[in-house]
Amino acid sequence: MMLSGALVVCSLLATLATLGEGLTVSKSGPWRRAREYVVLQQQQQVRTLHGKHTAATLTMERRDGGLAQFKQWQREAQTNRSAHDAHAAAAAAGISAAGDQPAGEAPAAARQTKTHGSDHELSAVADGVLWSAKLERRVPTGFSDDDVVAWKRATSDSAVVANISIGCGRMQNRVVTWRDGTHSCARYRLNAEQIQGEIYSFYLSRLLGIANVPPSRLSMIHPREKRWLAVSEQLAAAEWQLEKPFVLARYVDGLTPAYIPPEMRYANRSLHPSRRLLEKSEDELRELVQWSDLIVLDYVTGNVDRVVNNMFNEQWNAYVMDAPAHNLDRVAAPPASGSRQVAPGLLVFYDNESGLLHSYRLLDTYQAYHDKLLRSLCLFRAKNAAAIAKFHDAGNVGDVLWKTFATAEPEMHKLVPRLPARNEAILNKRITDVFNQIQRCSKLYGKS
Ligand SMILES: *[C@@H]1O[C@H](CO)[C@@H](O)[C@H](O)[C@H]1NC(C)=O
Ligand SMILES: *[C@@H]1O[C@H](CO)[C@@H](O)[C@H](O)[C@H]1NC(C)=O
Ligand SMILES: *[C@@H]1O[C@H](CO)[C@@H](O)[C@H](O)[C@H]1NC(C)=O
Ligand SMILES: *[C@@H]1O[C@H](CO)[C@@H](O)[C@H](O)[C@H]1NC(C)=O
Repeated sequence: MMLSGALVVCSLLATLATLGEGLTVSKSGPWRRAREYVVLQQQQQVRTLHGKHTAATLTMERRDGGLAQFKQWQREAQTNRSAHDAHAAAAAAGISAAGDQPAGEAPAAARQTKTHGSDHELSAVADGVLWSAKLERRVPTGFSDDDVVAWKRATSDSAVVANISIGCGRMQNRVVTWRDGTHSCARYRLNAEQIQGEIYSFYLSRLLGIANVPPSRLSMIHPREKRWLAVSEQLAAAEWQLEKPFVLARYVDGLTPAYIPPEMRYANRSLHPSRRLLEKSEDELRELVQWSDLIVLDYVTGNVDRVVNNMFNEQWNAYVMDAPAHNLDRVAAPPASGSRQVAPGLLVFYDNESGLLHSYRLLDTYQAYHDKLLRSLCLFRAKNAAAIAKFHDAGNVGDVLWKTFATAEPEMHKLVPRLPARNEAILNKRITDVFNQIQRCSKLYGKS
């Protein structure tokens, strides 16, 4: 009994250390509340251990309020910091900021926009070809690096599976329920190339500063391994081949369908720094900002599922663009208790195994549509634009992508080959296409 009590105290102290991580602020306000929370939880758990439940309810109420407030504050501070850092990085890469624009080269139309009286208002939304830092701070953060690390820890080899059930898209995919009650998606594909496409798309999204793809990792089932023992019958029913890698992805609940925004839906598609944006609601703006990342990611991976395939099918069905977008969802509500919070309004991008490999074989058919979509975009997120500039300059995205994957998954990566050199070359070329588009837009809208 004494021993387990001591263990609880130790783990609570570890919690306290985690809460304090990366904080350089005064130890008042939320910080103090967080400390109180830990101390109260400590007292409560020790009491419970000794069989005394007095005051437990009261303690729980106080602690939940304090912690929720603290976490909210911590998230906000992090969002503010990363919006600021991203703009600094983009400026360092020469994007958007002053001096970017060759004198006298701006077409008359762009000059007019710039000298228009409401420049000042527009600056609340757009800063040259970048969404303003002020607006970025109000956009849902997405899956942060910390979220990815925490999720990987929670789903490491020591996590035990309690149940699996049908869900998460294609027929052989499954929803995995862990013993602690949280879920993940297991994406199983017989075709190894599809696993490769999906996992590399995830790591690529991280490298491009795009935080809308749910955390993912490779996993594998070894028969008789403790973590899968409870579900061996269901596994047999799922007809999975064992000892074959599959992708495990974070499960996100509270989702609703997402639609292609009017700016991207019709033949006149255009998402440029324009006064029309001032008529948008806060929610619409928050969503449009995320569409900038979506269009860039889909362009570089060659993904056709969300928009491009619909543009292609419009030849036969005029209304296809009005339907909910495939492989895209929107977080509607805070998820059920027990899972980590994902901010409402976040767009969740699924790759569903098609990017970087099969999609590159389809470019003959689809490139004209990819091109149209990219050319309609003249507003970028600072973090993404800085990453594109960096990879364009270095021309080494294939190397970095492979090393990132190998470092993140020291064992499992050995089961999935590096992207073929030809595909890495296409990826490099497509990053350059995006870079050139940003340059073209900067000439039109860069500050002078
Ligand atoms: C984040 O920025 C907003 C305004 O841009 C500010 O009101 C808020 O206090 C900041 N939050 C934190 C935690 O720094
Ligand atoms: C496991 O999932 C199945 C549905 O796939 C469900 O019928 C069953 O009740 C679940 N078992 C447990 C123990 O939750
Ligand atoms: C893609 O994945 C998401 C999330 O798991 C799922 O909802 C969707 O149905 C999948 N799409 C396909 C085509 O499998
Ligand atoms: C674009 O086209 C759609 C449908 O044709 C139309 O409703 C919309 O007003 C147009 N938008 C602009 C900005 O011209």
